[in-house]
This record gives sequence, structure tokens and C-alpha cells, in this order.
Amino acid sequence: ESQDSGKKEAIVKEYACMRKTPLKSKNPDIVSALETLSENAFFHDDEARRLAFQKAAGVIKSLNFKIKNINQVKGLHDVGKHSLEVIKDIIEEGSSIEVENIINDPWFHQMKAFQSIYGVGPSKAKKWIAQNVFTIDDLIERTDLHSSFDHRMELGISFYKDLNTQVTKQHALAIKNLIQQHLEEILPGCILVLAGGFRRGKASGHDADILLTHPIEGKEIGLLPKLLNLLSDSGLVLHGTMETGHNNPQTIMKDKGKPLASNVDHFDKWIGIMKIDKNLKDLDSSDNENDLIQLEQNSLTETSIETKKGRLSKKRSFVQTLDNNEDFARDTKKKLASNSKMSFEQLLALSSKDKQWVARRVDIIVVPVSQFFYALVGWTGNKWFNRSLRLYSQRVLGLKLTSHGLFDLNRGTSLPANSEHQVFDNLKLEYIEPTDRNC
Ligand code: GTP
Ligand code: MN
Ligand code: MN
Repeated sequence: ESQDSGKKEAIVKEYACMRKTPLKSKNPDIVSALETLSENAFFHDDEARRLAFQKAAGVIKSLNFKIKNINQVKGLHDVGKHSLEVIKDIIEEGSSIEVENIINDPWFHQMKAFQSIYGVGPSKAKKWIAQNVFTIDDLIERTDLHSSFDHRMELGISFYKDLNTQVTKQHALAIKNLIQQHLEEILPGCILVLAGGFRRGKASGHDADILLTHPIEGKEIGLLPKLLNLLSDSGLVLHGTMETGHNNPQTIMKDKGKPLASNVDHFDKWIGIMKIDKNLKDLDSSDNENDLIQLEQNSLTETSIETKKGRLSKKRSFVQTLDNNEDFARDTKKKLASNSKMSFEQLLALSSKDKQWVARRVDIIVVPVSQFFYALVGWTGNKWFNRSLRLYSQRVLGLKLTSHGLFDLNRGTSLPANSEHQVFDNLKLEYIEPTDRNC
């Protein structure tokens, strides 16, 4: 403590993925100021500034002492001149005028509010504000705007209250459990892990990110449409987008040569809104990772690679299976689409009446077990930790990291991983606990 409070300069590692970044910062005021500047830059379409302030915030979040003297952060990696000035103002004056101005700017708050609507991005939010639309109620009342809403926005506006109520970890685990129960009817032995912010130690979040795999590689093929079909029959689906057909070894191999956009993966996934009964009982957080430990101990990745090779040699029957799966997927997509044909008026009526359920954002990602731990790292995040991992991997190792694996594109090889620890080993990085990935 006493050593840190003096003039001694802190040293931070170059890449955020090399640092421990806990959820709770020792310098919350500075972090929130820098993140406000970053968000404001994002709203103004200034990606370079957004990143610069976000990086500076990340560095400050990783410091394990309270900043008392500006010299302690001078010369720190990724803390630029502008950020330093802001930090100095906060230490010496208690606040930064630049940040205060943003916080007191109604435009900034309107942007934040609109941005928090499911299906709405900054450009749409900006347009609305320019058209003198300021609140969610305005959006409902201004019928002249309604023709410009897409279906996602209509849902986001209708169910604004439900969807903007934070999901607790216990509630998210209960949703995971509900999905698991339905899976037992389709394919017993599936493994589900609640990833995203909850895995990083957050007590609440905006959605439940659920990774789904099966210990036997290949069993997961075609699973997602079957699951959604059943969830839909149980009246649990309000709306969603399902992506399928990428989840097979052939596609993954093709993808290796293709540069993937940083945040995009090719897993079968469903991004949607579930209808969760108000009486659904919360679950205790303790059991989230039990399955995961089991998966590591099983050490199944080796054998599953064998299975994969075997299946590839029996190409014709394999392709036949895939075709059947795609037919089923197409039918399920049609069925789900017809379910969500409700008009804006119908959605508004549905959301305002006394209902027994709440609308909850859920992401379900189906992952072949051989890629599971890379996917787990990717879907645990956070976004900035992932970004740093991928940059580091590219620049330092010359390898391509995605949620599917770690690839040497020149040689056409990849490094398997049986655990998150092994992902970090493959990356030649010290292991960082999920709770220290809050960059
Ligand atoms: P809250 O949900 O607001 O609590 O935060 P969160 O960190 O859980 O954010 P979010 O649910 O948006 O994303 C969870 C993690 O999954 C983040 O690290 C994202 O970067 C990552 N993620 C989101 N979408 C995708 C995607 O399409 N592909 C991959 N690979 N990762 C994604
Ligand atoms: Mn999340
Ligand atoms: Mn999510």
C-alpha cells in the first residue's frame, strides 16, 4: 500500500489479455469517466477514439492500487495524453469538465436509452433524436415512424420493460436448467455452461449466454433445431434468429482459410427472446461449472478427433445426415417465423396485459466438443479481452484465434485444447481466471 501511494510508477503489460482485470476497480471514478468518453465517441462514430479511451480504461481497471498521484500513471502503456488529463482532473479537482459535459448532455442520455432497445443501434437512435423523438413512449405514439421499425425493434419497444430488467445469475441459471430439462428429452447427456458476464463474476446481466455441447463429437449436429422446436411447442419462445448448417467439420476446415470478422463465429446458434414463467424458481450459482470439470476430466477431445476422421471417410452417409438436418432446420425456421408474425399492435397489446411470464434475452450456442474450450473463452469475454487475445495471437504468435480454435493458416494446422488452461498454454500466456477478464 504505502509503496504504491508514492511516486513509483506502475508497470502494465502491453496486452490486456496478459493482465488480471477484476470486476471491481480500485479507481471506479476514473474508469467510469474514461468509459463515458469511450461510449460518447462510439455514439459519434469515432471508432479510433472509442478504442483509445476503452484501452485506457482497461489499463486503469487492471491497477491494484488507488491512484493518488498523476505520476503513478504517467507513461503507462495505452494511457494517452487526453486520458491523462482526464485522470489528472479527477484526482486533483474531483471531476473532469469534459466528462461532466457529456453526462449533462440530454443527447447522450437519449442515445443511451435508445441503444438499450433490443434491435436498435446508434445510427437509428441518432435518426430518432433528430426527428424529435426522445422517449420509448414517443416511439409508440409517433405512428408515422412505425413503418420504419423492423420486427426486432417492435419486440424491443414492446417488451422494453422486461428486456431492460437485469437478469440475475440465479435467474439465468434457472433458464439454463429449464433448457437442460428439455434437452434430456432429445439427447441425454448434453453439457451446458452459462458463459458471458456471469462467468466473469457479474451478479446480473442483460441476457443468458448458454454454451451447449455433448461429450461425444457429432451428437450435437442437428441438435439446435430440435431443441428450438421443442421449446417452441412448450410455449417458451417469443422470437429469435436461428443460424444453422455451419456446425460440421467440413465447414470448419473451409473457414480456416477465410478471415473471420473478429466477433463472428460459425456455430449453430439461436439469438432470441424466451418467455419465462414468473414462478420459475431461481437456482443457486454453485453448480454452473460442475459439468465443465467433468468435461475436462473426460479428456474426450482426443477420441472425438478420431470420430471426426472416421466420419469424414464415410463422407456420403455423413452428407446425407447433414441434408436431413438441414431439411428439419428449414422446417423449424418456418415454424418459428410463423410464430413471430405478430404485428406491432399485437405485440404491444401482449406486453401490456397481465401476463404470467417475462421476456428474457437468451443466446444458445451449440459447439462441437473438440472446439468447446475455445468457444468458452470467446463467449466468456469480455469483448475487450477477446479483442486483445486475438490481436496478441496474430501479432506475437502469427496464429489466428477464433471461437473455433487456434489456427496456423500457413501450415493449415490447429492446436486442440481440453481445458481453458490449455487454450492459454497454447497461446503461451499465463492463465487468467474468468473473473479477471473484465477489461
Ligand atoms: P451482459 O450480457 O450485458 O451482462 O454482458 P456480456 O459480457 O455477457 O455480453 P454479451 O452477452 O453481449 O456477450 C458475451 C460474450 O460473448 C462477449 O465476450 C462477446 O464478445 C461474445 N460474443 C457476443 N456475440 C458473439 C458472437 O456472435 N460470436 C462470438 N464468438 N462471441 C460473441
Ligand atoms: Mn451476456
Ligand atoms: Mn449475449
